[in-house]
Amino acid sequence: MTSFKKQIPEFRELIDGCLQNTLPNSDKSPKELSEAMAYSVMNGGKRIRPLMMLATAKTINIDIQNVMPFATAIELLHSFSLIHDDLPCMDDDSLRRGQPTTHIKFGEATATLAADSLQSLAFESMAKAKLPESKSSQLKIVSMIAQSIGSAGMAGGQSLDLDSENKKLDTTSVENIYMLKTGKLLQASILTPAYFRDICEKEFLALKSFSESIGVAFQIQDDLIEAEGDIQIIGKSIDSDKSKNKAAYPILFGLDASKKRVESLYQLACEAIDIFGLSSNPLREMAEIIIHRKL
Ligand code: IPE
Ligand code: IPE
Ligand code: MG
Ligand code: MG
Repeated sequence: MTSFKKQIPEFRELIDGCLQNTLPNSDKSPKELSEAMAYSVMNGGKRIRPLMMLATAKTINIDIQNVMPFATAIELLHSFSLIHDDLPCMDDDSLRRGQPTTHIKFGEATATLAADSLQSLAFESMAKAKLPESKSSQLKIVSMIAQSIGSAGMAGGQSLDLDSENKKLDTTSVENIYMLKTGKLLQASILTPAYFRDICEKEFLALKSFSESIGVAFQIQDDLIEAEGDIQIIGKSIDSDKSKNKAAYPILFGLDASKKRVESLYQLACEAIDIFGLSSNPLREMAEIIIHRKL
């Protein structure tokens, strides 16, 4: 069997094609808004969340074409969250993926509206998806994805993240913020394919447990990259967390403890999916990419 890793360039092309086809043409009125939407999405994101969805689909033997509208939607939601995350009222960052952030390029009002429009487009994309098995399971997916970005998910985590500035939180509280602000959307990506066929509860819980560990590991690694990285390579600020005294894992607990935690969460994630045997290799390869990534 070809390794999932080897297929990643091809999958990225597929994902980018779906995103391009879903976005409004950049000459569509209002031109500035359409341009800001395309700018925020089509500028070199790693596409980790859609790839995670495809890796789960492979693991549980679901045709990846079936999940593409959801993979597209998740990436649009991720892009929307990044526009907001960079705004002056949030992390106030001016560089993302090596380019000016959306509000620097288009102004705060257009950036905010572009984020709104990407969120709406994501739900439109999901509504147009071919039904998985029954209408009710499609609604279950949409409901899960909606929850993952709301006050019990990404937005809730972002709120706690802002509130954490200048506070000395313990590891449990920091990991709870990470699980919400970053983990929930990754979890939704991983669980979506599970709604396309009847998998047993044990398998569903295995995917859930995998996603919980890998979601937190992803964010600690993100903070490590920021703490140790090179602005030229990561294409975003390397002192954003430090300058705002964020409750970031490496700042509060040190680089060594952060690296150890990433490694132990990776082990936990891999153990969780033992139940799938060799079929889980795509997810294992993605987990490895996440913990070893340098950007
Ligand atoms: C960055 O996510 C923001 C976090 C949630 C940590 P990614 O590292 O997936 O960002 P892109 O999409 O590849 O730029
Ligand atoms: C981003 O977290 C989380 C979301 C966008 C939901 P960070 O603020 O740590 O991510 P970067 O470093 O700006 O990408
Ligand atoms: Mg942030
Ligand atoms: Mg940020």
